[in-house]
Amino acid sequence: MTGRLEGKVALITGAARGQGRSHAVRLAEEGADIIGVDLLEPIDGAPYGPSTEEDLAETVRQVEALDRRIVAAKADVRDAAGLRSAVDDAVGELGRLDIVSANAGILNEFAPSADLDEAMWRDMIAVNLTGVWRSIKVAVPHIRAGGRGGVIVITSSTAGLRGSANVSHYVSAKHGVVGLMRSLALELGPEMIRVNTIHPTQVDTDMIQNQRTWSLFAGGDDDATRETFAPVSQAMHVLPLPWVEKIDISNALLFLVSDDARYITGQELKVDLGMTLK
Ligand SMILES: NC(=O)c1ccc[n+]([C@@H]2O[C@H](COP(=O)([O-])OP(=O)(O)OC[C@H]3O[C@@H](n4cnc5c(N)ncnc54)[C@H](O)[C@@H]3O)[C@@H](O)[C@H]2O)c1
Repeated sequence: MTGRLEGKVALITGAARGQGRSHAVRLAEEGADIIGVDLLEPIDGAPYGPSTEEDLAETVRQVEALDRRIVAAKADVRDAAGLRSAVDDAVGELGRLDIVSANAGILNEFAPSADLDEAMWRDMIAVNLTGVWRSIKVAVPHIRAGGRGGVIVITSSTAGLRGSANVSHYVSAKHGVVGLMRSLALELGPEMIRVNTIHPTQVDTDMIQNQRTWSLFAGGDDDATRETFAPVSQAMHVLPLPWVEKIDISNALLFLVSDDARYITGQELKVDLGMTLK
């Protein structure tokens, strides 16, 4: 059986773990070869640990187990020269680029807007907004060079569609990528390059499954646990579940990058258990 992405090459940022690894594996299952980049370094103020060389090696192992090729590199979406050279080298090796999943993102300090530290605001915008723009900037020339069109999907969040107290820097960046997506969709549409955003609610990854994030959701309860966080998170949703799994976002990504969505561009796809209806 041939996959839906046979012969295609996909760039995924933040590919070492979490949703990025799941995306790499899901797209590879459908026949894509993968370019995976990740920071692999601590993020100042993050309430969770960094991904590691071992994490990225595990992504490589899982993709190669599917008999697909993968070029994985340590690269920071804040570093234009490093990111460009990693993507250029990988495309040189794999021969083409068709798909971009701009997935890399961070959470750092939580605080009301007026109390947010300058550095926390700067880092957030640098990674979650400017880093997304930069990832696409280095990829577009390669997609164009193929002359076959292509697809770009940006991972936003439900925080890209509504306000949220104590994380206005995250909310601002995730709203910002929606504007970027809409503008890119206009610019690139004539070349059959489609651009969309995905808006997940809570996803069961390190980014939210940690003490400080549980406490934030639980109204500052320092003893909050995964178990006490679950009903609080569930109450935000229409479907009676506390969070979605990585694979749910990967399947939404797969839909958007496949020909099943060939005429879909400029859209915000929510995978949110109905959160934004409330
Ligand atoms: N987990 C959630 O509840 C949730 C909900 C909505 C949206 N998101 C978004 O989904 C995306 C993936 O997050 P996740 O849940 O898999 O978290 P994660 O922390 O497990 O994965 C994020 C990955 O991005 C990498 N990364 C961070 N900064 C980078 C940089 N400067 N350059 C390159 N790589 C970098 C990290 O090293 C990490 O491997 C993020 O954009 C996040 O904001 C997450």
